[in-house]
Amino acid sequence: MVSPELPWAQRIRRLAAGRDAVILAHNYQRPQIQDVADHVGDSLALARLATASTARVIVLCGVYFMAETAKILSPERTVLIPDAGAGCSLADSITAGQLRAWKSEHPGAAVVAYVNTSAEVKAEADVCCTSANAAEIVASIPARREVLFLPDQFLGAHVRRVTGRANLHVWLGECHVHAGISPDGLRAKAAANPQAELYVHPECGCGTSALWQTGTGDLPMERTRILSTGGMLEAARSTRAPAVLVATETGMLHQLRQANPAVRWEAVNPHATCRYMKMITPEALERCLRDGVSEVSVDPGVAARARRAVQAMIAVGPAGPGGRPGGRARRGQVGAR
Ligand code: 13P
Ligand code: SF4
Repeated sequence: MVSPELPWAQRIRRLAAGRDAVILAHNYQRPQIQDVADHVGDSLALARLATASTARVIVLCGVYFMAETAKILSPERTVLIPDAGAGCSLADSITAGQLRAWKSEHPGAAVVAYVNTSAEVKAEADVCCTSANAAEIVASIPARREVLFLPDQFLGAHVRRVTGRANLHVWLGECHVHAGISPDGLRAKAAANPQAELYVHPECGCGTSALWQTGTGDLPMERTRILSTGGMLEAARSTRAPAVLVATETGMLHQLRQANPAVRWEAVNPHATCRYMKMITPEALERCLRDGVSEVSVDPGVAARARRAVQAMIAVGPAGPGGRPGGRARRGQVGAR
C-alpha cells in the first residue's frame, strides 16, 4: 500500500517498483507523464525499449498500437496501457480486410506498414517502419519490386520523393492532428520568423509541400528539416538558431525545451494536440499501476505474424535518431541520444 500522502510522482515510482514495471512514454505525452517515465522516446525507440527492458511489466504511456507493438515483441511480459481507449485516427484509416483487398490488386508487392497500424494489419505486412526509418526500410526492398506503403499519405509521399521510387503505391490515410498543420500556416510562421529553423514531422499536411516549397524558394531550404520526433530531439541539441518552429503535435515541445532551453520553441499550430495521447492522465497512470489495468492482449497467431514484420524492421539496422535503446542518461531523455 502506497501512502496517499506522498506526492504523485513518488507514488508512481513506488507503485512501479512494487510491480517491477518499466514506464515508457511517447514524446507527445503530457509533461507530467514524460517527467515520471523511465524512458521517453519516439515510436521506434519505444518498440526497441520494450524488447530491451527486463522488467516484468511494461506500462506503455502512448496510444494503443504502441502498447500492442510492445506485446507483440514481448508476449511473455504483461503490457499495460493506462487508458485502453487511446486510439489513433491514422491506425483506424485501414483495416486488415482493406489491406488484403489492396494486396490482391498488386500480387507480389512488398507491403510496408507504418507502426501506426493495428496488430491485424501488421500481420498482413512484410515489414513495418516508423517516421525515423521509413526511407531506409523502403530502400532495403529490391528496386524492381512494387511496394504498397500504408497508411499515411504524407509520409508515403515523403518516402517516394526521398527514395525516387515510382513503383511505390501509397494508401490515402492521414492523422487528423497532423493534417491540421497546413502549408499556409507554415509559410506564414516562417515569413514572420526569418531567423527561425523549421522542424516538420513527415506526417504533416505541410510535410511534403514544405519540401516542394523549399525548391520554389517559398521556404528556406537551409532552415527546413523533415524529422521524426526522435530526429527533432537530436537536432535540438546542436542547433544554434535563436528560434525553431515545430510542425507536429504540441507535446513534443516539452522534450525540445528541456533539450535546449536557450532556443525559443514555438508550435506552428498551437492547437495541434492529439486527444488520444492526452487520455493518459496522471490519474489514469496511477490507477493502471495500482490496479493492473488495462492489460493488452493480442491473439497469439496474429502476434506471431505481426512480430515477423516488426522484427524485419528492427533488423534493417540503424534506426537513426530516436531509435536506440539503452540505459538512461537521465529519466525522460532516452529517445534522441
Ligand atoms: P514518431 O514515430 O515520430 O514517434 O511519431 C508517431 C506518431 O504517432 C506521430 O503522430
Ligand atoms: Fe495517431 Fe495522429 Fe495521435 Fe499520432 S498524433 S497517435 S498519428 S492520431
